Amino acid sequence: MYSVTKQQMSFRSSGPLSGETVVPGDKSISHRALMLAAMADGQSRIQGLSPGGDVRSTACALRAMGARIEAEGPDTWHVDGVGTGGLNTPHAPLDMGNSGTSARLLMGLIASHPVTATLTGDSSLSRRPMERVAGPLRTIGATIAASPQGTLPLTIEGAAAAVPRHHRLTVASAQVKSALLLAALNTPGVTRITEPVATRDHSERMLRHFGARIEVAEEPGGGRTIALAGKAALTPQDIAIPGDPSSAAFLAVAALVVPGSSIVIRNVGTNPLRMGLFDALRAMGGDIVFDNERMVDGEPVADMRVRHSALRATDIAPQAVPSMIDEFPIFFIAAAFADGTSRTSGLRELRVKESDRIAAMAEGLRAIGARVEENQDGLAIMGSGGAPLPGGATIASCMDHRIAMSFAIAGLHCSQAVTIDSMAPVDTSFPGFVTTLQELHSA
Ligand code: S3P
Repeated sequence: MYSVTKQQMSFRSSGPLSGETVVPGDKSISHRALMLAAMADGQSRIQGLSPGGDVRSTACALRAMGARIEAEGPDTWHVDGVGTGGLNTPHAPLDMGNSGTSARLLMGLIASHPVTATLTGDSSLSRRPMERVAGPLRTIGATIAASPQGTLPLTIEGAAAAVPRHHRLTVASAQVKSALLLAALNTPGVTRITEPVATRDHSERMLRHFGARIEVAEEPGGGRTIALAGKAALTPQDIAIPGDPSSAAFLAVAALVVPGSSIVIRNVGTNPLRMGLFDALRAMGGDIVFDNERMVDGEPVADMRVRHSALRATDIAPQAVPSMIDEFPIFFIAAAFADGTSRTSGLRELRVKESDRIAAMAEGLRAIGARVEENQDGLAIMGSGGAPLPGGATIASCMDHRIAMSFAIAGLHCSQAVTIDSMAPVDTSFPGFVTTLQELHSA
């Protein structure tokens, strides 16, 4: 079904997907769970932590600054926190690998500790903008020296006595918001953050869960203001992390586009601020049902049932963008098999993700025979009406896990195989992706 040569792999039409599966723990929630557990006074237990490389980068950095993080089982970890204010200066640079979330959130944590650290990353991460976090963190008293382009490597010297501010964000970014909330933990007084549009609120939910004093107010126009009182004393917790909806997204689109498919993905996070893709797929006619909806440690969770469906094109409104910011690559694949033209705009941020996702997706889609128009801030995709696309191309994954997985899924409904030049980046978020697909094909 899949040919494998080192990291290069080919994906071809292999019949319907069926059966039940799970996906790795949510990457966003895992970073936050490790960081808040590291700030708590005592031992926390985290079950379902993401096994991906990105979360490993966060764990290594926290260890280097004094937290003890030890495996209890395959996906269960103990964290002995240092307490708010207790981070130490690391002896060596902290390697953030491919992980923008590790880099930006840890900058926030360090900014209000009297600690100096150098952050480095791989060539993809070293192209991504850090000034959006560095700027506001300087206003609380941190000293941050980045490359002339405002990228990694950078050195951050945290403030001995950080100053509480009211930050009014211009970019809708959960990473920037979360960096400032983490900085607020060890800042005396009330820090306020106003975001222009509501973005994923895992930090807010988990801070509350760990006992921080946090208030969230809705703003006219869809934004929110979050107030956090520091210095906060966090109480250790036992937490279970749900499956990552951003990983489930690839399997869901595979089941929708491959004729005859019917799958169940158990225990997936359904935070409303992450559900944009699933809302869009349903609006396109996708048969997606959430069963057994429940709350687990402050986050909504469900089992997702997905069946093959004839998809109609849809347009994505710019207001919906933050709720599906990571899902555009796989949305574009769904759109390429839908009936009609799907249009997106307001996606400039996609150009500064792990790769320029607008350019990478436009190029890859054309290579497999889809009709695409590329604009500065989005794509228009003329769908195949459910028919297989030609395929027969090699796709550059551009060190981007989501580009690699998106075209792997596209290959499952192409006339000829689609080859991904390297599946190695997939391990940052979804180790076991290929095995999971194989299992769903043989169930
Ligand atoms: C994330 C926020 C998003 C998302 C990233 C994870 C987070 O980034 O793209 O994969 O965990 O807060 P931005 O905040 O830059 O949009």
